[in-house]
Amino acid sequence: MPITTFSSFADGLERDQRCRDHFITDVNLEDDRLWVPYAQGVWFQPCHFNVTTGGFSVVLKGLAGSRIGTHYHVGTVHGYTLRGHWRYLEHDWIAKPGTFIYEPAGEAHTLVITEDSPEPMMTLFIVGGGLIYLDKAENGGFAAYEDGFSMLELCRKHYRQAGLAVRQLDLLVR
Ligand SMILES: [Fe+2]
Repeated sequence: MPITTFSSFADGLERDQRCRDHFITDVNLEDDRLWVPYAQGVWFQPCHFNVTTGGFSVVLKGLAGSRIGTHYHVGTVHGYTLRGHWRYLEHDWIAKPGTFIYEPAGEAHTLVITEDSPEPMMTLFIVGGGLIYLDKAENGGFAAYEDGFSMLELCRKHYRQAGLAVRQLDLLVR
């Protein structure tokens, strides 16, 4: 991907549409339509598109045995596990409901929902900045990029295809 692809990323809102107020949003874990497909067996629901830091907050859902490819974080990540069991291949702990995780910037990892997870994994992730997918786990190079802007576009596309109210997503932009 040429680097110029990044030169015009924006939230797509007019200046007077941008809001700095506080907001709340209600994630509905039981409504299948609201889960935005992300990877094989993995979906998310957006909570916040952080167009100030480039980060985002989501509830991630994944079926047992599914995974998200190895990626590198340019900012911090906070996570809180709601359901299911999951881990990073690069660490030896297993997150379960109630597990909070803090990850410093510079961390590269591969997220796996364990094969024996008793239910689909659901975790709230607060991602401070963009992340870079690697083409291989060891000494990998650039494969793809993700941030608050690309996640917003992914959600808008899904909401359009699913007949959901795309404007609702604008309320999550700060
Ligand atoms: Fe990550």
